[in-house]
Amino acid sequence: MRVALHSCFRAISRRDALLVFIGAASLHLLYSVSPSVHQSSSIIVNTHLSSHGSLPPSSPPSSISNLDYEMPETELVSHAPGWTIFRNLYMADGTLFILTSKPESFPDIKLMTSTGLPALNTPESIAERMPTSRDMSIIDPEEAHSRWGGDRSTKELNRVFPIEGSTVLLNHYYHFCAELLFGAWAFWHGTFWGASPIPSFTRAIFPHATPEEWRDGPGMNIFFLRSAWPSLTVETRSDWLDRVTTTRLRAGEHKGRVWWFDTVLLSDRSAAFRGPECGERTQRTAAEAVKGVVERAGRTGFLERGWWEPVRRNVLRFVGANDRTLDIGTRAYMRAERGTPPNGGVEEVVVTYISRQGVRRHLIPEDHEGLVRALVELCHRRGWELNVVAMERLSKEEQLALAARTTFLVGVHGNGLTHLVMMPITPISTVIELFYPEGYAHDYEWTTRALNMKHFAVWNHTSTTYPELTWPNYPEGFQGEQIPVYGPYVAKLIEDRADGYLT
Ligand SMILES: *[C@@H]1O[C@H](CO)[C@@H](O)[C@H](O)[C@H]1NC(C)=O
Repeated sequence: MRVALHSCFRAISRRDALLVFIGAASLHLLYSVSPSVHQSSSIIVNTHLSSHGSLPPSSPPSSISNLDYEMPETELVSHAPGWTIFRNLYMADGTLFILTSKPESFPDIKLMTSTGLPALNTPESIAERMPTSRDMSIIDPEEAHSRWGGDRSTKELNRVFPIEGSTVLLNHYYHFCAELLFGAWAFWHGTFWGASPIPSFTRAIFPHATPEEWRDGPGMNIFFLRSAWPSLTVETRSDWLDRVTTTRLRAGEHKGRVWWFDTVLLSDRSAAFRGPECGERTQRTAAEAVKGVVERAGRTGFLERGWWEPVRRNVLRFVGANDRTLDIGTRAYMRAERGTPPNGGVEEVVVTYISRQGVRRHLIPEDHEGLVRALVELCHRRGWELNVVAMERLSKEEQLALAARTTFLVGVHGNGLTHLVMMPITPISTVIELFYPEGYAHDYEWTTRALNMKHFAVWNHTSTTYPELTWPNYPEGFQGEQIPVYGPYVAKLIEDRADGYLT
């Protein structure tokens, strides 16, 4: 089903749901080992650098230019494959125009945009997504003037019409929260890092999506977008077509009209897949965004500085989380910096196991039960809170509020793990993803690391973690209902991580 694919947090079927809630018994044991506080500052596997652009400035978007007689040249603020920030970008009749006297200072258009057609992994689909000059065109000032320019001597004004503020132009809408918004915010925040405050998004435009298409069935996409950026305006395909048709040259007209965008973040999934970090390594479009700001812009501390926190806090405030909850991570790091507190400084350790037993890809029933038993034993012994949840039994608010307190998130590979983007980042925060043995995908592994948390892929009674390199693999059984897991192994992994043995 198409809608389900676009959901941020896909709900699981209501059947076979189990909700076990074990309140934190006061069994805190004094443990005195040395948890290592900081994780590696870099998530980058390979240090290939793109050759385009220079260090992006940290200044916020400019105010409106004088467009009556001037057409400011397009500036490339920052770029990574699939993610580009421009100032003074133009659009007429559906074509994005880069106005420049230095065309060589811009990347190849195929690294910035595409035709926006749906992506299939076939040679035909790859070819039909290659952008042409109809999608994006680089023109010089003379040509721009001949198309839309006025004349000071005759007081004829430019035919340039401003769209002010910051526009996020999203050519796709797949994996809405953990890819699209995650990548957009990473790239934006990283580019304008140091600006205070970080400029906000004024509008989001989905040129290729109808209002129904970018929304998902459970409604998580709108919930997330509206709570994270309450004053954002959304335009979809019909609004974009209005802007296209009103700037189309009519028969007999010699001069057209053009829209001027102040600042634009252009995101394109097909273009991101043409970059090595996404296309060859992680299959995460957002990985190009993060790599772009961490490496090219030299923001090496970026990943440790809570880049996602403004978005997370907005969403969680919307669901009613209080300051105490929002600051779980901050308090844990403060304690951990002063010494070696138990549980990495986390006051209340919360283990959340997202059960998928009601939907297709899931654990062998006995192994699911064995896992629950092992987690119950662990949490009872340590005085931790355990939640075994089928997310669809909870409202969106309850799901997000639970994620906001979760230290250890355990679950079979699947969309439910997207909740990790709402977890508090603490010295021991961990995502444990259960795969069919030898199966692997980077979706949640990369996302977890981008938040400076730890990820383990578990294959029954073994596991792997970064920087061990694992390639995507979908063996027979990957999507099945007989995924094995040895519960005591998972419990041991959690306990060792809490005690600082796995950093
Ligand atoms: C899973 O691990 C347990 C404990 O080591 C073992 O007994 C069981 O055979 C394993 N199952 C599979 C399918 O490897």
